[in-house]
Amino acid sequence: MNRGLTGMFKKLTIAAVTVLGLTTGSAFAAGAEGHVEDFAFSFEGPFGSYDQNQLQRGLKVYTEVCSACHGLKFVPLRTLGDEGGPGFSEEQVRAYAAANFEVFDPELDDYRPAGPVDKFPANTAAGAPDLSLMAKGRAGFHGPYGSGINQFFRGIGGAEYIASLLDGYTGEEKEEAGTIFYENTAFPGGWISMAPPLSDEIVEFDDGHDNTVHHMSQDVAAFLMWTAEPKMMARKQAGFVAVLFLTVLSVLLYLTNKRIWAPLKGKHKPEA
Ligand code: HEC
Repeated sequence: MNRGLTGMFKKLTIAAVTVLGLTTGSAFAAGAEGHVEDFAFSFEGPFGSYDQNQLQRGLKVYTEVCSACHGLKFVPLRTLGDEGGPGFSEEQVRAYAAANFEVFDPELDDYRPAGPVDKFPANTAAGAPDLSLMAKGRAGFHGPYGSGINQFFRGIGGAEYIASLLDGYTGEEKEEAGTIFYENTAFPGGWISMAPPLSDEIVEFDDGHDNTVHHMSQDVAAFLMWTAEPKMMARKQAGFVAVLFLTVLSVLLYLTNKRIWAPLKGKHKPEA
């Protein structure tokens, strides 16, 4: 028995050393990963939900600033009125769509104001990527050493990445082959071709909410998390119900099992 145990320990030690060796190896390979701040968003955790006011502020930042270059071509405008979202009334959705976007209507062969049936327009003019799914397409947290274990505890961090990116400009710029690059602490590689889109007070909120770059970055990041995963709250609720159901089922099965075997177990004990 002793021999078996030492053998096992030997194997375990070898495995541990190998894993350590591998992880330190990839630490060097990881290279220039950006710095992403771990913001505390309202939608995090098993019971988190979107903050309706924050989504409305984020929508305003997107509309007034980001939409100049970025589209949201997968997001239907009517979803602004969905439960769990920015919570617009039908009237507000209609007014917002008509006031901000035009779509090409093949029947009219002309542009008309957008309505709830339309999607947010695409925008490829500046060569900027569509933002509909960006919050799920980027990861804020990777490590340690690319193992992804961090994501297990802190989430994928797409919203954190976007907020850190918008808030991560150092003010340094350089020109390379005719393109200007801006130094950014969150962008992998450290230099991005998007000029800093936000500046303090660039957007005014009706309720006078904090409109520094630091706060607007989080608002628009939260809004983009919602465009990428509008049903997050429903998903979390379904998950919770499933866990609750399985817990109750397990208890019932355990009790049933006890009951089925009780007579047999009782009989054998005294004889042994
Ligand atoms: C003047 C045009 C312009 C505006 C305004 C603008 N962007 Fe960008 N954005 C770009 C371009 C161009 C890129 C591609 C940059 C690159 O890959 O180097 C980009 C890239 C991005 C990326 C992807 C970064 C990555 O990881 O690849 C995100 C996220 C983003 N922008 C968010 C925003 C948000 C949010 C706003 C509004 C606050 C905004 N942008 C406003 C032009 C713009």
